[in-house]
Amino acid sequence: MEPILAGDIEVQSYLGPGDERTLADDVLDGLTRPLKELPPKHFYDARGSELFDAICELPEYYQTRTERLILQSSAEDIVEVSGAAELVELGSGSASKTRVLLDAMCEAGTLERYVPFDVSATTVHAAADTLVQEYPGMSVHGVVGDFERHLTHLPEAVGPRLVAFLGGTLGNFPPGSRRRFLRGLRNVLGSDGHLLLGTDLVKDPRVIEAAYDDSSGVTAQFNLNVLHVLNRELDANFDVDAFEHVAFFDRQREWIEMRLRATDVQRVHIGKLGLDIDFAAREELRTEISAKFTPQRLEDDLQAAGLELVELYTDPEDLFAVSLSHRAGG
Ligand code: SAH
Ligand code: AVI
Repeated sequence: MEPILAGDIEVQSYLGPGDERTLADDVLDGLTRPLKELPPKHFYDARGSELFDAICELPEYYQTRTERLILQSSAEDIVEVSGAAELVELGSGSASKTRVLLDAMCEAGTLERYVPFDVSATTVHAAADTLVQEYPGMSVHGVVGDFERHLTHLPEAVGPRLVAFLGGTLGNFPPGSRRRFLRGLRNVLGSDGHLLLGTDLVKDPRVIEAAYDDSSGVTAQFNLNVLHVLNRELDANFDVDAFEHVAFFDRQREWIEMRLRATDVQRVHIGKLGLDIDFAAREELRTEISAKFTPQRLEDDLQAAGLELVELYTDPEDLFAVSLSHRAGG
C-alpha cells in the first residue's frame, strides 16, 4: 500500500479492505469448534479501542496505572542500558505510557524515531499526529498491521532499537504461541536492540477477577462489543442483549478468561459466510485469555525464545512487572 506522508510522519498500512477476511476466517474456524472461540484482536474497532481506554481508567484495573509508575521510576535506567534511538511500540493503542519513555530518550539526547504498530488505524494515526508535535526533531513511522503477521514490515532501524510490548498484551497469547511470538520479536531486535515487556503478575484471584468484571460494567461492554463487530463486518445477526459477560480466573493455568454466555438458545446467521451457528442455552464463547506471570515463568519464556533478562522492574506490591531483555549471548 502507498505510504501516507505528512511532515515527519509516515504511516504504512498492511490491512486493506480485504482484511475482514481474517475476521471471516477466524469466525469460520473459531465458531465451528466444539468450544467456540474468537481471537481478542477483533475487540479493537474504534468503539472497542475507546472502551479499552475507559477500562484503563477503572479503579479495579490496576495494570495501567501500575505499569506507568514502574516506567516512571525505571525509564532513565532503561534508556541508559539500551541506548535506544528508536522506540517501536507493538499494540501501541492510545500510547498513554509512551511519553514516559520518549521523555527519557529525549533527556538522554538519543531520541530519533517512534514506530507505533497497531491493528487499529485510528489509534496509530492519532498517536503519530500528537506525538510528532510534542517531540520536535523526532520522526514517526506508524505501522497499521497485525503483529502476528506483519512484523517483517517494520522499517530498517535507525539506531539501537527498543521494542516495547506493554500493557500485559503478551498474556493474550496461549503459552505456545507466546513463545513463538517472542522468538519473532527476537528477530526484529537486531544485534543491539532490547525488548521491554509489560506483564501482569499472579496475585489474589479476587483482585484479578474484579479487574475483568468491574462494577460499572465497562469490561462487559468491551467484551460484548465484539458481537457488534461481527454483526457489522460480517453481516451477522447476533442478538447482543441475549449474551452476558463472564470472567473467571483459571487457577491451574493462572490466566483469566473472558467469555460471552448465550442466555438462551440462539441461531445466528452470518450473512457474509452463508453460515448458521447454533448456541445452546448457557453455551459460552471464549473471547480472551489473559495470562498472569511469575518472574520464573517470564524468564523461562524469554529463555525459550533465545532472549536473556537484563532487568526486572516491579512495583512495591508486586502487581505488575516490566522486563528488559536482549538476545541471549549478545
Ligand atoms: N499498549 C497499550 C494498549 C494495550 S491494548 C497499553 O498498554 O495500554 C492492546 C492493543 O493491541 C490495542 O491497541 C489493540 O488494537 C492492539 N492489538 C491487539 N491485537 C493486535 C494484533 N494482532 N496486531 C496489532 N495490534 C494488536
Ligand atoms: C490488552 N490486554 C492486555 C488487556 C488484558 O488485560 O488482557 C485487554 C483487556 N481485557 C479485559 N480488560 C482488558
